[in-house]
Amino acid sequence: MNRSIVFVAAFVALAGCGSHGSKAASPSGSGAAVASSVPAPVRAPASAIANGRSIFLTGKDSAGVQISAQPPPLMPSCAACHRANGSGGVHLPNGAISADLRHNALVTQQKPPYTLALLERAISTGVDNQGETLNQVMPRWKLSKRDLHDVAEYVLTQLK
Ligand code: HEC
Repeated sequence: MNRSIVFVAAFVALAGCGSHGSKAASPSGSGAAVASSVPAPVRAPASAIANGRSIFLTGKDSAGVQISAQPPPLMPSCAACHRANGSGGVHLPNGAISADLRHNALVTQQKPPYTLALLERAISTGVDNQGETLNQVMPRWKLSKRDLHDVAEYVLTQLK
C-alpha cells in the first residue's frame, strides 16, 4: 500500500519534469511563438493593488516598466510630486501645486466625486472631474490599460 502511493507520487513528479523538459527542448528560434501562445495570467485584485502601489511610489509597474508621459514628466513617479501618502501640496515649476489625492479631497469633498473612470481620465488626459484642464505640470500619462486601471484603483482605495 505505502509502496504504491510512493510510486504514484514519483510518477506524477516525473511526468511534471517531462513536460518542462519538452518545452525547454523546443528548437531555438521558435521562442517567440511559444511565448505568445502562453495566455496572460489572470490577475487577482491583490496584485492589481500591488501593481498600482508600485507605479505610484516608484514609477515602475510590477513588471519593472518605467511609466512615461507625453510630453515627458518632470518627475518619474506619482509620489515624487504627490508625496508617498498622496497628501500633495508640493510647489512645482510654473506655480503648480500638486493636488491632494487622499479620499477626503478626491471623493468626499468633490462635486462630482472622483470615480475610477474619472480618475483614469484625469491621469491619462489631464481633464479633471469637472471637465476642466489640469495644469500641464500634471503629466498626461501614457499607460497600458491595466497600469492605468491599477494606479487609479490604488489612488481611489488606498490613499486615506
Ligand atoms: C511632475 C509632478 C506630477 C507628477 C509626477 C504627477 N502629478 Fe498628478 N498632479 C500634479 C499637479 C501639479 C496637479 C494639480 C494640477 C492642477 O491644479 O491643475 C496634479 C493633479 C492630479 C490629479 C487631479 C486631482 C484633482 O483634484 O482634480 C490626479 C488624479 C493626479 N494628479 C494623479 C496623479 C497620478 C496617479 C500620478 C502618477 C501616475 C501623478 N498624478 C503624477 C503633478 C504631478
